[in-house]
Amino acid sequence: MITGNESRPSVRVVPGENAKKIMEKDEKYIATTTKASPAVVKEAKGIVFEDVDGNIFFDFTSGVGVVNVGHSNPKVVKAIQEQAEKFLHFAGTDFYYELQAELARKLIETTPGDFEKKVYFGNSGAEAVEAAIKMARWSTKRKFFISFLGAFHGRTMGALALTASKTVHKQRFFPWMPGVVHVPYPNPYRNPFGIDGYEEPDELVNAVINYMEFLFKHAVPSDEVAAIFSEPIQGEGGYIVPPKNFFKELLKLAEEHGILLVDDEIQAGFGRTGKMWAIEHFGIIPHVITTAKAISSGIPLSACIYPAKNDFGVKGAHSTTFGGNPLACAASLATLEELQNGLIENAAKQGEILRKRLDEMVEKYEIVGDARGIGLMQAIEIVKSKESKEMNPKVRDGIVDTAFKKGLLLLGCGESSIRFIPPLCINEEQVNSAMDVLEEAIKEAGQQ
Ligand SMILES: Cc1ncc(COP(=O)(O)O)c(C=O)c1O
Repeated sequence: MITGNESRPSVRVVPGENAKKIMEKDEKYIATTTKASPAVVKEAKGIVFEDVDGNIFFDFTSGVGVVNVGHSNPKVVKAIQEQAEKFLHFAGTDFYYELQAELARKLIETTPGDFEKKVYFGNSGAEAVEAAIKMARWSTKRKFFISFLGAFHGRTMGALALTASKTVHKQRFFPWMPGVVHVPYPNPYRNPFGIDGYEEPDELVNAVINYMEFLFKHAVPSDEVAAIFSEPIQGEGGYIVPPKNFFKELLKLAEEHGILLVDDEIQAGFGRTGKMWAIEHFGIIPHVITTAKAISSGIPLSACIYPAKNDFGVKGAHSTTFGGNPLACAASLATLEELQNGLIENAAKQGEILRKRLDEMVEKYEIVGDARGIGLMQAIEIVKSKESKEMNPKVRDGIVDTAFKKGLLLLGCGESSIRFIPPLCINEEQVNSAMDVLEEAIKEAGQQ
């Protein structure tokens, strides 16, 4: 039985015989998705999981950014169990229960900006993004959207139109929603302007803002743009942290043209960066926030939080059966409490330790080109050499694979990066133990 406090992973052989049987069945019946490692879970607690063959792993993926409060957090589990005894579903779309309104009130309380807000509840990140798209079109009567190259906002046809991190997401799916124009994101490490954004952050921000102004002059009438969508830190695109003053300039531009700024916190939000919302690191108040993933620790739920004055105001304009399901709302209220009881602070503290280890790896290993992130949302980029900065996805994949065989579950991001997003309940010993495994993997895979 695992406890979640294990100080190191322990693996015999993966995938073991039990795992192989389950993977075979899965491959036969389940649609092709994005399977990355042969991790077949039996039980998970905190940052630790045991697979079906008795191997013990550290999960540095948090179920892709979902279990910020740790796997099977006891308070969240209890809240779900207690709610399940009362009622499982009652259509919060058409009728009432207090859980929904209370969660909406609490979510609004946590968001920056002292203006009246409303919450739309959906079930997935993409649905929160779709809600933001529809709310923006509905309330502004404008048709166009701006999004960033490298962005990931989901895979439904509206959200997909905003997404621009990998062409595989879009291949053979055109036409997606029309009206989206992509602009470069201020990636300090590599950008189309050839600017070193670590050395010249203001120059990089100006280049992006000038590009957008140019676009407004020549190609997209700004008074027809409903919203600009941006992640505070690009997630799937490679964990890209923009320069500190980027969002101030972006908000200024948006407000000059009466455009809504939508902050997609689906991956970066809910305490992961050491603040409730990642945008708080940039000192601005976005008009709209979309959130999902960690909001309810695994029971599907998403939310779009927007100005009350932009509400649909007409019954039936937008809605969904399961949005704000009682089990998810109960889980989310317990999740919020857990985060506010020390886990957000712990994310900031452990994030510093994690980052120090990653920075040391940039110094030590020629193939580790960059380390970046905030709090417990960190990544390294694997390159052929620091000088060339040429991406090295093959070695990146080798590192992820080797680390897994040693008991550390990781996920790639971008073309050649590895992300580190453990649950926020991780302790210092576990961070260091995981980083020791990573270093071994870098040494081994880097030599292949
Ligand atoms: C920033 C961001 N937005 C939207 C989404 C889509 O969320 P979902 O997969 O729940 O639809 C994701 C998923 O990874 C994401 O990272």
